Amino acid sequence: MPATIVMGGQWGDEGKGKLTDSLAGSADIVVRANGGANAGHTVQTDQGTFALHLIPSGILNPSCLSIVGAGVVVDPKLILEEIDHLAARGISLEPLRISERAHVVMPYHPVLDGLDEEQRGEGSIGTTLRGIGPAYGDKVARRGLRLVDLVDRETLRHRLHQELPRWNRLLELVYGVQGMDFDTLFAELAGYGERLQRFVCPTEPIISDALSAGRQIIVECAQGAMLDIDYGTYPFVTSSSTSAAGACQGAGVPPTSVDRVLGVYKAYSTRVGAGPLPTELQDATGQLIRDRGHEYGTTTGRPRRTGWFDAVAARHVARLNGISDVALTLLDVFDVFETIQVCIAYEIDGELTDRVPARADQLARALPVYEALPGWRASTVGARRAEELPRPAVDYLRFIEDQIGVPVSLVGVGPGREQIVPLAPPRGSAVSAAPA
Ligand code: GDP
Ligand code: IMO
Ligand code: MG
Repeated sequence: MPATIVMGGQWGDEGKGKLTDSLAGSADIVVRANGGANAGHTVQTDQGTFALHLIPSGILNPSCLSIVGAGVVVDPKLILEEIDHLAARGISLEPLRISERAHVVMPYHPVLDGLDEEQRGEGSIGTTLRGIGPAYGDKVARRGLRLVDLVDRETLRHRLHQELPRWNRLLELVYGVQGMDFDTLFAELAGYGERLQRFVCPTEPIISDALSAGRQIIVECAQGAMLDIDYGTYPFVTSSSTSAAGACQGAGVPPTSVDRVLGVYKAYSTRVGAGPLPTELQDATGQLIRDRGHEYGTTTGRPRRTGWFDAVAARHVARLNGISDVALTLLDVFDVFETIQVCIAYEIDGELTDRVPARADQLARALPVYEALPGWRASTVGARRAEELPRPAVDYLRFIEDQIGVPVSLVGVGPGREQIVPLAPPRGSAVSAAPA
């Protein structure tokens, strides 16, 4: 069976963790493709709520192999903490594999992340300070250490000898902060390497063999397409490819094996950190969305910025990524709303447009053109079938579908694993409703 990509269609936190967990129930492998501990993927099961950062959201399904792909940047300290935390809660880590090709977030990367943010001053990105940018920077500059280096003491010693002096010169001479001691750093990292060794392996053969055997693979992306390094709101983006193409690359899944790109979108917009969010609501309505959606960061606890659904950005993402169907989450947040707005175009410097400009400053000046839709003022949280959704809620979903140009196949009506409603495609669509 071919692979499915689960990707964020907006600015992250769309509910990818919940959808991945849900699809993992009938899959053999979940591979995380990109990002690092900047991600926070929440899954609610009958065992409680889990916030996953580096470990794939398949881990809560014991029959499913969970692979951290080569495109992920792994902070060894944080992944070990996550492993320990899950183990303490009775979750088996037996199915966990980490690609030997994945890069290591080194202890100096978060330090530089913080210094870079300070230096940006008013123009700061609001990163998660997890060292993501500097770690991907080292990877692309061919200076990075990979897991395969970390788990071999002598290679680690050699690579650290090559890299640390340059880092210390940078920290001390450019930023005027204390460099790092080789012996202390080596001892710390070698300890992590020893503990992680049992999980680290070549993951490409596992994936190739599984595909040849017709097994089902889910590729779990982190972040959202509007935070993509190439197509997001640069420079207010993350440092990896959050796209469907990036998913293939990061997971090691050939594009020809993919037959479904599930775009996860919220029924509204949120964003953590700086950068344009054209539909942002800095008023009581925005606060109501934040309260009802519990819109506080899973990783940093920061309040998320909130706003109406932005169909211009959503369409841009759907086209670029070949999204085959949409999971629209958090519909229940609108259960008390009288009217719901959807942004269908932007007005930028007096011009109407349905395109997302490349320049963040232009997007920041975009005035949303809204279409108002009636709310349903009824609870959807107990709905499990499309017929149980109020008519105006279905109309809202159909409107979003029309705007994005892609069918909505799944609807989220609560954080629980079971709170997903499969939706039959509108007539004439090629995509069939997927089981939750
Ligand atoms: P991710 O990063 O894309 O995995 O998303 P996060 O876990 O950061 O944020 C999504 C939040 O919404 C989490 O707290 C989820 O438990 C919650 N959630 C997901 N789907 C739904 C839904 O349909 N309704 C409600 N009320 N909450 C949801
Ligand atoms: P998940 O996978 C939401 C945002 C940060 C910041 C920008 C760059 O849970 O959807 P970084 O630390 O990556 O250099 O920060 O990207 N960001 C996220 N926002 N959800 C995420 O992950 C995010 N990961 C990074 O807030 O604006
Ligand atoms: Mg998140």
